Amino acid sequence: MLIKINSEEDTTRYGLSLASQLSPGEVVCLVGDLGTGKTALTKAIAEGLGVTEHIVSPTFNIVKEYHSGRMPLYHFDVYRVSDPDELFEIGAEEYFYGEGVCIVEWADLIPDMIPSGSRVIEISYGEAPQERIYDIGWTE
Ligand SMILES: Nc1ncnc2c1ncn2[C@@H]1O[C@H](COP(=O)(O)OP(=O)(O)O)[C@@H](O)[C@H]1O
Ligand SMILES: [Mg+2]
Repeated sequence: MLIKINSEEDTTRYGLSLASQLSPGEVVCLVGDLGTGKTALTKAIAEGLGVTEHIVSPTFNIVKEYHSGRMPLYHFDVYRVSDPDELFEIGAEEYFYGEGVCIVEWADLIPDMIPSGSRVIEISYGEAPQERIYDIGWTE
């Protein structure tokens, strides 16, 4: 399913609405080039889950946990993961098959780790500066 996002406000609206549909144990994969708004969308989802902490990009930590919302939020950025062992070391599987919501930026880099049936949002740039196209699907 394709969704056209016209502005940062649209991204926020979409994230808030998605958050209201998420249940514990869901994994949301965010796929798209640098600057397409994966972290921006994560912030909106976090807000929708009631997370009050400031969301910072977990690039150097791989995962950051937030416990102030209506369920735990685990925010991954696997851009710099070069060896799958790094993911095993941080216990990624416990997060992916746990009771919180996982959001995984650059999930396409670790296809074998992602549970089947995970939601995938592929984000690409549109024509106007704030335009984005979301291609929504699910992993097999
Ligand atoms: N529609 C939009 N949705 C999200 N971010 C947008 C949008 N339009 C412009 N931006 C800008 O694009 C950038 C997205 O950055 P970020 O969320 O860090 O991207 P990523 O995590 O994909 O690298 C921000 O500077 C934001 O202000
Ligand atoms: Mg990011």
